[in-house]
Amino acid sequence: MLKTRSRIDSQIEKLSEFTATPDKGTTRLTYSQEDLKARNYIKSEMRARGLQVREDGFGNIFGKLEGTIEGAPSVMIGSHFDSVPNGGAFDGPAGVVAGLEVAALFSEYNLKPKYSLEIVALIEEEGSRFGGGLMGSRGIVGLLSDYEFANLKDKRGVSTEEAMLKIGLDPSLPRKRDPKTMKAFLELHIEQGPILEDHNIPIGVVEAIVGLTQLEVTVTGQAGHAGTTPMNRRADALAAAAAIIAQLPNLAIDEGEETVITAGRLNVFPNGANVIPDKAVFTVDIRSGKEDHVLNMIEKTKALVESFNQNGIHTSVEKLLYIQPKKLNEELKSLFKAKSKELKVSWMPINSGAGHDAMVFSDFTDVGMLFIPSKAGLSHCPEEWSSSEHLEKGIQILFEAAKVLTEAEG
Ligand code: GLV
Ligand code: MN
Ligand code: MN
Repeated sequence: MLKTRSRIDSQIEKLSEFTATPDKGTTRLTYSQEDLKARNYIKSEMRARGLQVREDGFGNIFGKLEGTIEGAPSVMIGSHFDSVPNGGAFDGPAGVVAGLEVAALFSEYNLKPKYSLEIVALIEEEGSRFGGGLMGSRGIVGLLSDYEFANLKDKRGVSTEEAMLKIGLDPSLPRKRDPKTMKAFLELHIEQGPILEDHNIPIGVVEAIVGLTQLEVTVTGQAGHAGTTPMNRRADALAAAAAIIAQLPNLAIDEGEETVITAGRLNVFPNGANVIPDKAVFTVDIRSGKEDHVLNMIEKTKALVESFNQNGIHTSVEKLLYIQPKKLNEELKSLFKAKSKELKVSWMPINSGAGHDAMVFSDFTDVGMLFIPSKAGLSHCPEEWSSSEHLEKGIQILFEAAKVLTEAEG
């Protein structure tokens, strides 16, 4: 597989160039100009591998190698191609590139699958533009209705469909997919944590993915002059928001068992240095391997926020995303382990603290996930890095698994 390494290196490199923040990591928001350039590149790479390319009414991209059994469901391989603000070059793209490389190997070995092989590149997994996240996969399985999708807006007030039209995408294309068209979904992803690197093991076979929720808290007060309003006459929305945020870490620490909480985004209005803020909006991301902890934390967070509802301050909490912890498919885990053994690649079981499209698909089709090590455990930052040697090992396992699952003949 000599060519694999150079192909994956050049694809990761190329995708990393489609960023709104050159030299400050990857910022590729859904339906942005950078999305358009990345999607054109992904589509051309799909075509170069002989795949039939289509997009759906969300802008998800599919490249299909038709199986010989008519109407048979697809073995889907892929990940997302959006990013967080100032993120890295691997979160998402590693899995898209892995899918493209599996397709390249099918073509090189002239393999004819009985079940179709479909490489997928999904939109808005991170939720960085429209909030919530896992949007491409939730849309495909019908967990995001047309109405909900059409009503999502970015922070400038641009709706999903307006943004799609702006880069030439067609929101009227088919969206929801019958689960009967999916045989399995395989996702390779970077670990985004330190465990594989600490153990010096190149492959993690994912057992389960944490449950997670994202809340949006809005705190409103009264705007006023920063110099002339006495301290006892203020309803400062940001001061209240800050007091709430400062108490969040202890809620998670008290809950225990690796429950985590993050207030990651904060917008202040009107955001003037000499104006008392009249509105602060922030997100609260809560995760745990046990659903009960997530549910408890939602209640505790709501109660904390509600306790600030006084003295001219008003609060509200909206749930942007809720998804239960998911166990991944036993047979696919066994298949990955068997193929790792055959290829003499060491592996270990691992749980995912990050959310993935795989968890959405897992209620609709068989899902398997592989992790590769992240340098220093870093992710969602420009320093995020994984080696092409590890990526290649993951791809070899995916390729072998895909041959079995598609019943490929060569
Ligand atoms: C995606 O990276 C997530 O875990 O939020
Ligand atoms: Mn991510
Ligand atoms: Mn990701």
